[in-house]
Amino acid sequence: MDARALLDTLADGHTHSGAALARRLGVSRAAVWKQIETLRAAGLPVLAEGGRGYRVERPLQMLDAGAIGAALPRAVRALWPCIEVRWQLDSTSSELLRAAEDLPGATALFAEWQTAGRGRRGRGWLAPPLLGLTFSLLWRFEHGYAALAGLSLAIGVAVAETLRALGARDIALKWPNDVQHGGRKLAGILVELGGEFLGPCHAVIGIGLNLHLPRSMREAAGQPVADLAEACGDAVPARNALAAALLAALGEALEQFAHGGFAAFAERYAALDALAGREVTVEAGERRYRARAAGVDARGALRVRRGDGVVVLDSADVSVRA
Ligand code: BTN
Repeated sequence: MDARALLDTLADGHTHSGAALARRLGVSRAAVWKQIETLRAAGLPVLAEGGRGYRVERPLQMLDAGAIGAALPRAVRALWPCIEVRWQLDSTSSELLRAAEDLPGATALFAEWQTAGRGRRGRGWLAPPLLGLTFSLLWRFEHGYAALAGLSLAIGVAVAETLRALGARDIALKWPNDVQHGGRKLAGILVELGGEFLGPCHAVIGIGLNLHLPRSMREAAGQPVADLAEACGDAVPARNALAAALLAALGEALEQFAHGGFAAFAERYAALDALAGREVTVEAGERRYRARAAGVDARGALRVRRGDGVVVLDSADVSVRA
């Protein structure tokens, strides 16, 4: 028995005794307890209700590829011929990079539990099973890498606008593409490229979105973080519906980007830009200096005013803090 079988039962949010769980799953109580410990170690709080049994803090919805596909608006259904949900993977982005050659042009891969989620700049991405959305998209482009400048910002725009449309408040983008709520990180985006440098090429776009962050994860994050429950005043959309809303917006954004590049997103980015006009600290290798953010250029590079001049920063080389 793996933790998934246990969660199938616990997901209803009710209290289940250890004996009932063991009976239902056909295993010993010790085996049930071991899987509860595994889930807790992965960051999912499983509460012990005195002597009465175990429950999760709130009902949890498992992802279902059929339900996500069915919830896609008809007009965008054809954009996502391949939607997959896996219970456990090291990383949805690593998996798509490994399998890119054999997959359909557009593929969306979700995992309930990533054991080695990756973030930008070599960092990790921590997300407890079922308390967030972790997924990656494979998308093919006719042109080469140079045409994809600003892609990760365009993806940020699509994610941020979708969350706003679903009722999330105080949503902004911190360059290059952190989605923030109240100045704290709500979602992260990691874009990796493969294929031919001069084209055709493909992008693997990984997105991690916090839905309900337990306290332990907030402490482990090493930076101020937020979840969608805070941003939506607890009215978090069901996970399959949310996944479908994001896929619909992202499919449209990717099509639009393939035709017009970042230019089509520049104004929308400006409307979400959390740094515009603010003083920032720029770290570029060993160098560190203060400057004032002044929006992004036509390629999605950050412009900062320093002294009398304007410096243009590429996201691969620098980190910027407000
Ligand atoms: C960041 O802000 O540093 C980017 C985080 C990206 C995390 C997502 S979760 C789904 C996909 N799989 C990964 O291993 N990483 C991305």
